[in-house]
Amino acid sequence: MKVSVSTISLSELDVDLLVVPVNLKDAESGLTLLVEHFGSIIERIRPDFSGKPGSTTVIYPDQGSARRVVLVGLGEPEKIDPELLRRAAAEGAAIVDSMSVETVAIAVPETMLDSETASQALVEGFVLGAYSFTRYKTDSQSETGVQRLVVQTVNEDKQVRRGAERGRIVAEAVCTARDLVNLSPDEKTPTMLSKAIEKSGRKFGYETSVWDKALIAAEGMNGLLAVNRGSKDPPTFTVLEWKPENARNMRPIILVGKGVVFDTGGLSLKPTKDAMDSMKCDMAGAAAVVGAMEAIARLALPVFVVGLIPATDNRPGETAYVPGDVVRMHSGKTVEVLNTDAEGRMILADALSYARTFHPELVVDVATLTGACVVALGEFVAGVMTNEMNGSAERLEAITDAGRRSGELVHPLPMYDEYSELLKSDVADLKNVGGRSAGAITAAKFLEHFVDYPWIHLDIAGPAFLSKAHSYHPVGGTGFGVRLLVELLRDFVQKNRT
Ligand code: BES
Ligand code: ZN
Ligand code: ZN
Repeated sequence: MKVSVSTISLSELDVDLLVVPVNLKDAESGLTLLVEHFGSIIERIRPDFSGKPGSTTVIYPDQGSARRVVLVGLGEPEKIDPELLRRAAAEGAAIVDSMSVETVAIAVPETMLDSETASQALVEGFVLGAYSFTRYKTDSQSETGVQRLVVQTVNEDKQVRRGAERGRIVAEAVCTARDLVNLSPDEKTPTMLSKAIEKSGRKFGYETSVWDKALIAAEGMNGLLAVNRGSKDPPTFTVLEWKPENARNMRPIILVGKGVVFDTGGLSLKPTKDAMDSMKCDMAGAAAVVGAMEAIARLALPVFVVGLIPATDNRPGETAYVPGDVVRMHSGKTVEVLNTDAEGRMILADALSYARTFHPELVVDVATLTGACVVALGEFVAGVMTNEMNGSAERLEAITDAGRRSGELVHPLPMYDEYSELLKSDVADLKNVGGRSAGAITAAKFLEHFVDYPWIHLDIAGPAFLSKAHSYHPVGGTGFGVRLLVELLRDFVQKNRT
């Protein structure tokens, strides 16, 4: 979708659909400005439009150049935040579904927000709301859609332009992540995933290198190899790097993404319904890292970032790892495997251990790690955990704030030492499951054994994949994590100004 900015007046915008976000006060006081632009039809529909969030009214005006106008409610003016604007824009995108619309304009409303933030949010909401995954649809109708989005603003404003451009880049990166998650599992072997990452790197200007099984073995990534043993497809380990000359950091920020391309549970096999049936999403952490790298490179953020993506499927093939196996991990620690379905932590542990060789400033891992996190926090919020080391409170605050700004919410879970008891093994240094209670936390405590640097763990098992559409998220992959990571890194750049 092409995105541009225009100062043409509302009545002169020659588009198939004009989206006008309107707050409650303006709706109540008569929409006078809109009457000027579009005539008496506005007066006639006035009783039907409340201005509340989620309310919409479509108008076919006989005055002005727009073929259709849709009013979308913003609610009380003091409460308007970026997320409300995203959702309002997505209401506009949803209406397009049932119409033949190629060109859309959206008006930047007057709010307490700065115009850059507002226009970014509107573009994000619209592009994300307009997304649909059509790769496997043979019906050619699904090929059509909005080609051009015009962001309309009263005054020529560099900030609106900057916000719109960032909104487009970030939303497209989210769509990259969604596309990867939504791919059919048979098109998503570790090698195929790595090839897609190499292609993305070439397109957007970041470096990539892909380790094959031999190199993974030579490095001693036995956690990754153990999970891969039941599979016919070899694992990969992909390293992504964005290192601009003007980077504000010498030591990298590392993003680690869980890349389990399909999780059957292995020999500890999952049931199909409401469990294995969505497990193509188990590489959503990897997809978020790829999307974030794309956005960072396209925004040319002055920050040195490395991505690490261990990838394999988890299957119960003849040579699969079994409960009782003891694995000597990359770090040298031994792990007793008591449930082969707790595979994410096995591959992440090796990646986190390898991350130590970079002497990183910060490592953030993103993973669809535990069903327990979904039970604790639901489908819209990710769990966040961190280690007790150099400024853990600041880290939690930074990621929580990035969550609020981006609309990708995270909530902290505790990391008291008491939880570590649950991972003690009789035969090895630790076991890979901690029992029924506090599953999201014990998974994080497991990973903590493999880090010795400032670390943030994001369990995105809830929000990575939806079985029911919600606002600007369709059914399937949501791309959760991309916007959150980009905001975290933008904040890092802000705080480290030279
Ligand atoms: N991939 C799953 C976690 C998951 C669950 C992701 C729901 C998305 C939605 C993970 O590998 C897993 O199976 N975890 C187990 C851990 C248990 C065996 C300790 C779980 O959550 O049941
Ligand atoms: Zn699993
Ligand atoms: Zn898994």
